[in-house]
Parts: sequence; C-alpha cells; structure tokens
Amino acid sequence: MRDGAWLYPLVEIVHIVGFTVLVGAVAMFDLRLLGFGRALPVLALARHLLPWSWAALLLIVPSGVLLFSTQPELLDNRVFLLKLVLLGAAGGNALAFHFGPWRAAASWPAKAPLRARLHAALSLLLWIAVIACGRLLAYV
Ligand code: HEM
Repeated sequence: MRDGAWLYPLVEIVHIVGFTVLVGAVAMFDLRLLGFGRALPVLALARHLLPWSWAALLLIVPSGVLLFSTQPELLDNRVFLLKLVLLGAAGGNALAFHFGPWRAAASWPAKAPLRARLHAALSLLLWIAVIACGRLLAYV
C-alpha cells in the first residue's frame, strides 16, 4: 500500500467516507435526543439511521485495519491507543443506551428522559474525541 501513490490515500478516503456517515448518523440521533427536531418520532429516526451506521462500519473497520497494517508502530503511539480506547468507550456507551433507557423508548414523550440525554451528550463528546485523535495521528 505504501509503494503505490494512490492506494493509501484511496483507503484513507474510504475510511473518511465511512466515519462521516457513521458519526453523522449518530450525531443526528443524539441531537434529536438532546431536544432538537422534537417533531421527529424517535423510533422512526432510529429505524432510518441505524442501518446506515452498521453499513458505515463495514467501510471504517476494514479500511482502518488496512491503514494500520502499513504502520504497526502506531501501537507505540499514545494518540492511536487513546483513539482505540475512546472507540471502545463510544461502543460501550451505545450498548448501555441500547440495553438501558432505549428499551422504554416506545413510551417516551417527545422529550427524551434525562438518562437518554446523558448518553447522547456523552456519545457526541466521545465521537468528536475519536475524530480528533484520528486527525492528530498525522502530526504526532
Ligand atoms: C468510527 C471510528 C473511527 C473514526 C471516527 C476514525 C477517524 C479517523 C480520522 C479522522 C482519521 C484521519 C483521516 C485524515 O485526516 O486523513 C483516521 C485515520 C486513521 N485511522 Fe481511523 N477512525 C475510526 C476507526 C478506526 C479503526 C477501527 C482503525 C484501526 C484499527 C483506525 C485506524 C486508522 C489509521 C491507521 C489511520 C491513519 C493515520 C495516518 O495515516 O495518519 N481507525 N481515522
């Protein structure tokens, strides 16, 4: 991948398209939980956005692993390790939301309950931090 002029940037573009779709979908859902666009039914929004998030992972993870395979020394890079930890935390937060407050979503009023809003705020912070770490990798 490092030998050709195009392959690395192409895989990086796939990575970027993937996380744009994932983090974009997640952010739109989180903002709805935080009170923006309350006219939109939360369950319908989730049905629309969730499949895109899963599909985006099919782009992000293989491309990320390919990019990593060209520079395994990243394992000594604290920013890369922090990015992986933050990714795990974002996944854990999504799971805790899914098996926690989300189970009662059918009976929520237009305003999501406090626990759901806390998960949404944390999710936004974690995904922004993951993107920041990814971008910083080029500089550290
Ligand atoms: C949704 C999850 C992820 C997000 C939001 C994300 C974000 C980013 C960002 C913003 C960049 C910099 C792109 C650029 O500026 O050109 C990047 C690059 C990279 N990512 Fe990810 N990433 C994610 C998942 C992963 C995974 C799972 C891996 C591998 C295990 C990975 C490995 C890499 C590598 C190796 C680079 C290239 C660093 C460089 O060449 O400077 N990423 N990522």
